[in-house]
Amino acid sequence: LLVNASEASARKMPDTLFGIFFEEINHAGAGGLWAELISNRGFESGGHKFPSSIEPWSIIGDESSVIVSTDLSSCFDQNKVALQVQVLCDNKGAKICPDGGVGVHNPGFWGMNIEQGKKYKLVFYVRSQESINLLVGLTGSNGLKKLATVVVVAANVSNWTKVEVLLEAEGTDPNSRLELRSTTKGVMWFDQVSLMPLDTYKGHGFRKDLFGMLKALKPAFIRFPGGCFVEGSWLRNAFRWKETIGPWEERPGHFGDVWNYWTDDGLGHFEFLQLAEDLDALPVWVFNNGISHNDQVDTFHVLPLVQEILDGLEFARGDPDSKWGSIRAAMGHPEPFDLRYVAIGNEDCDKTQYHGNYLKFYSAIKEAYPDIEIISNCDASAKALDHPADLYDFHIYDNASTVFSLANHFDGAPRNGPKAFISEYAVHGNDAGKGSLLAALAEAGFLIGVEKNSDAVEMASYAPLFANNNDWTWKADAIVFTSSQAYGTPSYWMQHLFKESNGATLLSSTLQANSSDSLIASAITWRNEIDDNEYLRIKVVNFGSSTVTLKISISGLEQNSFQSFRATKTTLTSTNVMDENSFEDPKKVSPVETMVEKVSENMDVVLLPYSFTSF
Ligand code: AHR
Repeated sequence: LLVNASEASARKMPDTLFGIFFEEINHAGAGGLWAELISNRGFESGGHKFPSSIEPWSIIGDESSVIVSTDLSSCFDQNKVALQVQVLCDNKGAKICPDGGVGVHNPGFWGMNIEQGKKYKLVFYVRSQESINLLVGLTGSNGLKKLATVVVVAANVSNWTKVEVLLEAEGTDPNSRLELRSTTKGVMWFDQVSLMPLDTYKGHGFRKDLFGMLKALKPAFIRFPGGCFVEGSWLRNAFRWKETIGPWEERPGHFGDVWNYWTDDGLGHFEFLQLAEDLDALPVWVFNNGISHNDQVDTFHVLPLVQEILDGLEFARGDPDSKWGSIRAAMGHPEPFDLRYVAIGNEDCDKTQYHGNYLKFYSAIKEAYPDIEIISNCDASAKALDHPADLYDFHIYDNASTVFSLANHFDGAPRNGPKAFISEYAVHGNDAGKGSLLAALAEAGFLIGVEKNSDAVEMASYAPLFANNNDWTWKADAIVFTSSQAYGTPSYWMQHLFKESNGATLLSSTLQANSSDSLIASAITWRNEIDDNEYLRIKVVNFGSSTVTLKISISGLEQNSFQSFRATKTTLTSTNVMDENSFEDPKKVSPVETMVEKVSENMDVVLLPYSFTSF
């Protein structure tokens, strides 16, 4: 490998090159990054209709002592469904309640992680003609292990009344549930029951461990909120930003019909922008352009949707005294968010209304916000676009050898038109399993190609980001979690080896003709903010089954600079190329760092079979 470190052969790479893509898929947000512990907090998961579905709420007691149903009596206009609980027993009459009373419980998203000493804020709305004594508790999954109990006396609640309770856990159980019990005979209604840990990132509602794993990647941007989630199978189920802002109780929530689950939209437009800011990443908002998987808004009728998006931009960027900016300010963020990128739709280029709709959105956004960079869904890597765009979206999911070979895909892409945003790349199918080393190596090879073509590619992000271990709709993913645990797949760890690349300098590096086809390499220099020193980084993927001894020759550095060099070598490999990480062995395939004994301008380095090595 010949590396030329002279300035003449160098090129700065985009500051935005590597980021992340968050989609509400596999319960990534609801039951994942968003720390809300109650699943179906508004009893709306069956839709805004009567009867709706209370799933996963269940009754405590039997049907001779408690009957539950839904009706449309909520005080919240946009989500009218409420839970009616009819208690048929009490402590003194003919029908005595079982110990502790009867009521309902919610297991969260496959169990709530309740931790000893931590505090949880419970909020709910209640109504009843009677004055009721409620026993509010956190328990283990079968209700026997008590983790926190508070008695709430709800008197004078003939009108809907908000109740707030702080619960402090006296024990730990990752599989806990919330219970609402009573021994007061009569009928009561509940709505909008929320249980939030106080311990979230900056109190912003993000689960700390999962947030930390994102932050550790140092993403330059975060694309959100999908993917197909943005489109919907049907337009009526697409993500509509206006329905995800303001007080959480008033958000209608919606059924994500592509990934097949309900979300209360606690993680809404504001929270996504906040997430980007907290990650120190630029937000990239993908919005629905009037196209779903099965229906489309004719361009002739699209202007109301265009206005909706302009309003969403004002919400993000407008002055705190503008119509929509003032709502953002009221939500606690008077300063505008740094929104500079939007994508018009997702994977919609071939849809009949796309071009017409795109142009309507494009011209309206450019007129109001000339600095916003607009991303088209149409691939311009081989053929020029027939419409204006700042960037074009490119998605690739394929088997490992195809993804590895696509490292060269952008060699011939135009350098003077819109740049590529590879917003979704991953190995998919058998080669990926639930996240294999093989997949990570192919993706690493692909990303090395992205670095080398970073004059044609401006941004790239892996997909999907998260999978709740109880809802693997899409495999593989970067981060797998349960209520209490999380691990990175090899593809997650692979991305760590690229986190110095944003804004770094790409050096010329050439593998000589006799090198194997299974090798790909890049060389960069990057400045470490901590010590303000400049470092050289060489990355090589060995995508073959043989050990390779690679001679690295570095030219263009001052003669004596090698004397002062210290080098580390980080390797991502494993004994079997199909090895995966798991909760039992979360770091089986993860980077291992060692010191390099001797650094010189000509070095022989050993590359293990199926490995990704960074020097
Ligand atoms: O990442 C999963 C899905 O793959 C995304 O929702 C979609 O954009 C792509 O087809």
